[in-house]
Amino acid sequence: MRVRAAAEGDLDAAAELLDELDAAQAAWRVFSPRPGHQDEVLARYKAALDDPDSLLAVAEDGDRVMGMALARVIVPSSFSDERAIELSSVVVHPSVRHTGVGRALTRAVARFAGDRGVERITLKVFAANRAAVRFWEAVGFVPRAVQYTATADDVLVRIESDPGAETSSSTSSSKPAHRE
Ligand SMILES: CC(C)(COP(=O)(O)OP(=O)(O)OC[C@H]1O[C@@H](n2cnc3c(N)ncnc32)[C@H](O)[C@@H]1OP(=O)(O)O)[C@@H](O)C(=O)NCCC(=O)NCCS
Repeated sequence: MRVRAAAEGDLDAAAELLDELDAAQAAWRVFSPRPGHQDEVLARYKAALDDPDSLLAVAEDGDRVMGMALARVIVPSSFSDERAIELSSVVVHPSVRHTGVGRALTRAVARFAGDRGVERITLKVFAANRAAVRFWEAVGFVPRAVQYTATADDVLVRIESDPGAETSSSTSSSKPAHRE
């Protein structure tokens, strides 16, 4: 198994792996992807091929691509100019999981970060993706932020079914004025 930067000829295999990843994550998505979302991601992979601040890494077994990872230099914080590597689209073909491919891809991304003088790597993972959470923790990542989400209806049901918590509903339907 060899990890290298992807080339144009790897994009079909990357599209198949993206299908695999989308299927694996479909049940956990909060928001439904808009039509054409996959094409947008594939365009991002293509753009990464010529971008010195991006790496689409592929793991190759013989002439078959069995895994990939996308790394991009970004400025993730709204209050800092510090750069970080955003790691996404990490997926290994099911037939070769647990054989070190994910680890090898992540090593390539960590080396890319060092080459670009970037200290930190960030990624998002669905909390329900227990296998991936264990994988990320095994290779050194720690959770630093948790995104909570609920439908407004669920929140209202929960709050309004708690009789002790009700104070006044006088503002419940008045929307704050929006100023341009
Ligand atoms: C998560 C994923 C990329 C891991 O890739 P992998 O090639 O199977 O991982 P590796 O074989 O390199 O595992 C490295 C270490 O991570 C841990 N690990 C990996 N998969 C694990 C699992 N399912 N359960 C527990 N620990 C796991 C182990 O400690 C492992 O070391 P070991 O093999 O010495 O025990 C792969 O399972 C995958 O493609 N999952 C579906 C897509 C996905 O969820 N991507 C991540 C989105 S954030």
